[in-house]
This record gives sequence, structure tokens and C-alpha cells, in this order.
Amino acid sequence: MTRPSFFITTPIYYVNAAPHIGHAYSGLACDVLARFKRLDGYDVHFLTGTDEHGQKVETAARNRAVDTRAYCDQVSANFRELAQVMNLSNDDFIRTTEQRHYDSCQALWRALDSAGQIYRNSYNGWYSVSDEAYYDTEEIQDDGNGGKVAPTGSAVEWIEEPSYFFRLSDWQQPLLDFYAAHPDFIQPASRRNEILRFVESGLQDLSISRTKFSWGIPVPDDPDHVMYVWLDALTNYITALGYPNTEDPRYQKFWPANVHVIGKEISRFHAVYWPAMLMAAKLPLPAKVYAHGLLMRDGRKMSKSIGNVVTAQEMIGQIGLDALRYFLMREVPFGQDGVYSDQTLYARLNSDLANDLGNLAQRTLSFVAKHCSAQVPASSGFQDEDSAILRRAAGLLDNVRTLMDEMAYHRALTEIMALASEANRYIDAMAPWTLRKTDTDRMQTVLYVIMEVLRAIALLLQPFMPDAMSRMLDQLGVSSEKRTFADYDSKLDSGNTLPAPEPIFPRLTPPEE
Ligand code: MSP
Repeated sequence: MTRPSFFITTPIYYVNAAPHIGHAYSGLACDVLARFKRLDGYDVHFLTGTDEHGQKVETAARNRAVDTRAYCDQVSANFRELAQVMNLSNDDFIRTTEQRHYDSCQALWRALDSAGQIYRNSYNGWYSVSDEAYYDTEEIQDDGNGGKVAPTGSAVEWIEEPSYFFRLSDWQQPLLDFYAAHPDFIQPASRRNEILRFVESGLQDLSISRTKFSWGIPVPDDPDHVMYVWLDALTNYITALGYPNTEDPRYQKFWPANVHVIGKEISRFHAVYWPAMLMAAKLPLPAKVYAHGLLMRDGRKMSKSIGNVVTAQEMIGQIGLDALRYFLMREVPFGQDGVYSDQTLYARLNSDLANDLGNLAQRTLSFVAKHCSAQVPASSGFQDEDSAILRRAAGLLDNVRTLMDEMAYHRALTEIMALASEANRYIDAMAPWTLRKTDTDRMQTVLYVIMEVLRAIALLLQPFMPDAMSRMLDQLGVSSEKRTFADYDSKLDSGNTLPAPEPIFPRLTPPEE
């Protein structure tokens, strides 16, 4: 039987500066869903990479007085390393400076051109190098210091140069029809409304080439022009599947994408320009664009210029990787901005991981090690309380699956952790330490029930905390072949010998304590 396919992508990151935790956030969100889908039987392709062309990158290299290509190699390697540090399970890492991407962009350009969608003219208007975006005069404001800024706060400059244009204005109505027919195309709803208003207000043709610098993919047959970096960047999603060879098995299997995960500041490029280009090139459109919020630290957007950036490596050094992954997915409702501080970080991790889940596992497993000869206990018939909590555990996969399909990670985690709290109440009420003296059969049953609940929790938490949950499943004696969601309904083998329990989530001490 062929497995259903699932193609998920991160934005590709500009190589104009070193990566920080904000960049890790998009990748993590993709990784968690990619892992969930793999465990749920899908054939997953998870793509990330770096966006290496354009004026911003060229300027960054020049400011450092290094060769542009050597500079890109170096910063791209930092992003590749970030993916490893975050334990991302990406299947590919694309660089827009690769030959495959050059070929793909030129082919897409030619496809648009032969469809009559490209013409030559000149662009006179505002451009922000920092955003790599064009702005209308109505959008521009004075910055109070004699300069001009875009609505994003980025400086803009007036440029006048010959340029090729894409007939974006042709696609206003087709886009509106598409959004109406696919209400889930852009999520969350707040972003969808913004995009609808933008498209309804009218679309102008888009300048898609630049002549003032050369760090880009040349326009076919007119190498004085390089392609606009966003046309180049967006194309990465099909390059990676073998485009222009639409017979490539990867393209056949994985295009159109199931979801492009992006930061909300780049919604317009993904939800307007990209689908318009695809329609113009007669290619299928992705199913969904999910725009998440931005991470804020101590009340302000994390950014290099504000100087409040934190790297993933720093945080991992403080709290450990899986705790970081849990925190980012649990604390921030996906789609909203993430306000984060050390206080919320330590409080959340200690309460959820050390106290609730860690404590449940630790006290159960050390009790079993001591009083059940380190073997999975045997159940001798369930009472109502046992059946109730087992039923709840059995039903959890379906709930979590639905929430993951909505990309409501924080809600999925809330549901899973609620079961851990319930199990803590259950163990307190059943008091196996008392049963040990009065009724060891019943004690074994209670411990078996908790271990079954822990098995369900650990299986479902694997996408979020792969290493910690692999250790927990080891300690529960779940063999490595029985860890997919197809095994969710299987049971622990009573009598199976268990390894010595070890604490998985130590209590963390905040730096100022
Ligand atoms: N190169 C373009 C994207 C091209 S996609 C075809 C770009 N790159 S970027 O490096 O500036 O940002 C890429 C993404 O990094 C953002 O869209 C967002 O997903 C993530 N983040 C960067 N800073 C962030 C935060 N402070 N918080 C959360 N995510 C952030 O735009």
C-alpha cells in the first residue's frame, strides 16, 4: 500500500547574519509536524535551507570585505549546523546558490515568459533592501531623521532602473476566487483577512528583476538583469523536488506542498506572489501557508539590531535541547507572537516537565524497579478508575491528531500534559505504596495502568522531545519497532524486564536563584 505523502517547508533563511532562536522556531515547528506525520504513517519530505542571493546578502559580504560566495558558504553552514543542533529531521537542505536552483529559476522564468506573463519596462519607486521588497508611495513615511521608512519600519530608498515585470495584476480575481474556494489556504484567520484586504485593494504588476547589482540568478537571455530575490527564493520549494523535471519522482509525490510554514512578516510573498506565479506557470498551488508569530524577548521583537537575540546554542546550554523544544511549542500559541522571558521559561519547564511528567515517570518506575523485580507488572482485572484513565489515554491519539492538523501545537501539548496530571492524581488516589502491604495484585494492576498511560504520553510526545521520549520508552521497555502510532493500541508486555530507571527531566535552577 502506498503511504500518503506530506511535504512541509520552512522559509529559507537569508545569510546576511548569524542564526538566532527565531530562525530555529520555524524549523522546529516544521520538524514536530514532520515527525508526527512520519509516526502516523506518512511519507514525509521536510525541506529547509538558505536564501543567498540579492542586494542584502551582497552588501553584508561587502561590509565584511569577504568574497560573496565564500561568505554565503560560511553563513549557510551556520544554518545547516543550527538544523543539526535543533535535531531537525529535514530530508533536504537547499541553497539558492546551487546549480539545481539556477536551472529551476531559469526554467520558471521561461515558463512565465512563454505564458505572456513577463514584460520589460522600468521601475521607479521605493525599495527596502532590508525587506527585499518594493513599496508604494502611499505606504512610505518619514522616519523623523530626514529618511523614509516602509510600514515595517525598514529604511527605503528610491530606485530607478530598467526592470522586467510579472503581470501580477492579471491574478487579482483568480487569487480571490482561489482564497474563496480554499478558506484554509492562509492561516491563521488574522493573516487571511490581511491578505484578502491587500488583494481586494488591487494588485499592481511586480518588478521581478534588478540591474544595480549582480549577486543573483541572471535573467535568461538578458544577463544585465538578475532575478528579484523573492522570485528566486520562492522557487526553492519546487527546485528541491526536481523542477523543471515534473516527472521527477519527488515532484510527482510531493508537489503541491501540504504546508509552507513561514513567519507572519512574509505572508504577502507566500500567499499572494507565490500562488499567482504558480497559476501563471500553470503549476498546482500549495494546500496551505501557515504564518506563525515572532518571538519577543522581554517585550520586544527579537532582532539583531535591537540586540536582544538569543541563540539556540545558548538556550540549549542552559536548559537542554528537548526542554527548549517543549517550551517553544507549549508556551507560544502557534500563530501568535511569543512573549518569552526567563521567568516563564523556568516556571513552565519545572512545572510541566520536572514536576508533572518527570515525577510521574520517576516515582512509578523506581517503585516498579524496587517492588516488581524490575519487570512490567501484570494486571489482574481493571476497576472503573483504571478503565477510565486507560480509555482517556486510548482516545488521546485522535484528539492530538486533529490538533496537529490544525497546527495547534500548544493545545496538543496541553491535552497530553493533562493526561500526565490525571495520572498523578490517579497514582495518589490508588496509593500503590499502601497496596504493597495489603494487596500486591491490585498494586501491580495500578502500576501497569500508569505505565500504559506513560507509554501513550511518551509515544505522543516523541515529535516534540525525540531524545527524552526515546529514553522514556526505553525505560518503559517499549521496543524500538513499537513506537509508531500504528502501535498506539498495542500493550506493554507484562513480565518484560526493565532497565534501571533514570530521571529524565531534572529540576532546573534559574540563573538568578
Ligand atoms: N529569505 C526570506 C524568506 C524566503 S522564503 C522563500 C526571509 N529570511 S529571514 O531569514 O529574514 O527570515 C526567515 C524566517 O525566520 C521568518 O519568516 C521566520 O519564520 C523566522 N524568524 C526570523 N526571526 C524571527 C523571530 N524573531 N521570531 C520567529 N521567527 C523568526 O525572510
